[in-house]
Amino acid sequence: MSFEQWRERARELLKLGVPPAEACWTDGQTQLFEESPSRGTAINAPRVPREFLLLAEKACCYRHPARWALPYRILWRLNTGEPNLLEIASDPDVLKLRGMAGAVDRDVHKMHAFVRFRQSEDGAYVAWYEPVHLVVELACPFFARRFDTMRWSILTPDRCAFWDGRNLTYGPGLSQARTPTVDSVEELWKTYYANIFNPARVKLRAMTSEMPKRHWKTMPETALIPEMLAQAEARVESMLAHSRAGDPGVSPAQGASELVEAGGTLAELARLAGGCQACELYQKATQTVFGEGPSSARVMLVGEQPGDQEDRKGRPFIGPAGQLLRRTLAAAGLGEEELYFTNTVKHFRWEPSPSGGKRRLHQRATVRQIQVCQGWLEGEIRLLQPRVLICLGATAAQTLLGSGFRLGRDRGRWIDSPLAPRVMATVHPSFLLRLSDPDEQERQKGLFLRDLQLAREALE
Ligand code: URA
Ligand code: SF4
Repeated sequence: MSFEQWRERARELLKLGVPPAEACWTDGQTQLFEESPSRGTAINAPRVPREFLLLAEKACCYRHPARWALPYRILWRLNTGEPNLLEIASDPDVLKLRGMAGAVDRDVHKMHAFVRFRQSEDGAYVAWYEPVHLVVELACPFFARRFDTMRWSILTPDRCAFWDGRNLTYGPGLSQARTPTVDSVEELWKTYYANIFNPARVKLRAMTSEMPKRHWKTMPETALIPEMLAQAEARVESMLAHSRAGDPGVSPAQGASELVEAGGTLAELARLAGGCQACELYQKATQTVFGEGPSSARVMLVGEQPGDQEDRKGRPFIGPAGQLLRRTLAAAGLGEEELYFTNTVKHFRWEPSPSGGKRRLHQRATVRQIQVCQGWLEGEIRLLQPRVLICLGATAAQTLLGSGFRLGRDRGRWIDSPLAPRVMATVHPSFLLRLSDPDEQERQKGLFLRDLQLAREALE
């Protein structure tokens, strides 16, 4: 029985004044109980609210024997003294109707997401799918719009849908045994999937919870996932082993991008960078100072390079400039749980103080050193995917936003950039420390705070 047929039948029963308890709905037909049904008053012009129709059409696709009877009972009640029934959210019948309609809605969405076509020998496309509910007719107009130039069939145990490029028609359901399974098409699918596979994007847990196991078996590519994940892990391990062995063979750009592709983590990227010897800066520095912060941080702050204290401790932004930065971030309302700190260059470049002594003086990295090291920063951005990216000072800004970037002109503004939804450059905190005029320093600290407050607001 189709929904249209149900509507017609329901109208007839209302006209006859048949109360819901007297009508027996089965999938094939409606039977009245033989024994003298107690007829009520005839309802000749029933009230059928639009909302009810929308809900009933979906509920009637719910795979349950009560799918026809429940909407009729509600229709009856709507017309026998309870015209506002649908507004009573706690009514058991209404609850059930809404629950069924919701489940059907979700099932339609799943069908849209998980139907996989294979090309059959005659060039048409065929998909086998097992929906939870009886949603073929609700779901298929979407495929007709989406794949309007293809000829396709969607076969299910309940109904089959056919699109010839013009008309959408339906037929009875099929058993899976008769599905055209073209092995070569299946192989093609797998090769295709293995090639586009990126474990960094496979949110396995989300996928397994989103997608019931029943769908996995109709998706040939899912058979490959455990194996591909294992291979990806092995690739990360072997990259790390090479870097521990001091192999300087890979550039940061290559190492980072391979690790990202293989689904590595920020911690693994840090370990990989720990062995970096891609430019000469590692020789005089104590250690690589990699970025730091939770992988769920939504704000990334990019400085220039580690300073003296950062180099000794191996952590970014812990010296005087770092402390000023952290204080200002706190004042702007940004908590550490939202913050990831890193630098454009990961090793400290310094020269001995000309006056002798132990002091190590900060030296700017060369254009080439910045360029080589940039691969690590790009890897960090790809893995963290911050919502807000803040460049501190001209080195970070020009590295990430282009050499034409002018801090004096564009600091504190949101910049259009593919790196993150919100990108801004502001001054470097060490600039504030160098200002000798106290009034000017106060004024600049105020501007710096304002910029970081903008970043906080961008999280809301
Ligand atoms: N300045 C930077 O740019 N980065 C640090 O980590 C410390 C000071
Ligand atoms: Fe590698 Fe960057 Fe250190 Fe150079 S500065 S050795 S590129 S981590």
